Amino acid sequence: MKKVKKVTLTINDREVRAEGGMTILEAARDAGIHIPTLCYHEKLAPYGACRLCTVEISQNGRTQLVTACVYPAEDGLVVKTDSQRVIRIRKMLLELMLASSPAKTIQDLAQQHGVAKPRFEAEKTNCILCGLCVRYCNEIKKANAIGFVGRGTERRVVFYPEIASTVCASCRECFSLCPTGKLPSETDGVCFDDLTLEDFLGARQARV
Ligand code: SF4
Ligand code: FES
Repeated sequence: MKKVKKVTLTINDREVRAEGGMTILEAARDAGIHIPTLCYHEKLAPYGACRLCTVEISQNGRTQLVTACVYPAEDGLVVKTDSQRVIRIRKMLLELMLASSPAKTIQDLAQQHGVAKPRFEAEKTNCILCGLCVRYCNEIKKANAIGFVGRGTERRVVFYPEIASTVCASCRECFSLCPTGKLPSETDGVCFDDLTLEDFLGARQARV
């Protein structure tokens, strides 16, 4: 049997042993240390979109901010999950998310991090572009019925009508993953047996 290499790192002044190949997030969770996440899903490849899992690491005399769900747990790494820099950046990220997606999950997270009201104005798309729906459909279901279109502020999630009309009715598994409730709310009332594509989320934008 192949022996799994172990690494030793320090998280919040605690020595933590982790299996080689784990991310900082996995090592922290194994040790019972909480790091907030939004776009992370244990069955999906690391994505690093929301950056809520940002932590501060020190290695070889250098300090930097990294996303814990992507960065590998390495020998000798010193990790702070709640330094002043980390707290500041998480607050800022939550303010930005809250401005575009005032969903309960985001509101609760914002409140937990001391953010009462966002300082920013943004279009209320209710989507934080976490990609959970898109990645789940592609990586787990292998259906590719949903994807991203556009760039920058125009970036949107869309269902591809020609695929969605054949697979989504009997699946809908991405609905429960959506942290803002955008998918279930925007497709509510759509009759899946007789899918009205014009009503389906983003169908119009997909053709533009
Ligand atoms: S629709 Fe929901 S799950 Fe999909 S990217 Fe937007 S917030 Fe994430
Ligand atoms: S949970 Fe790590 S970037 Fe979203």
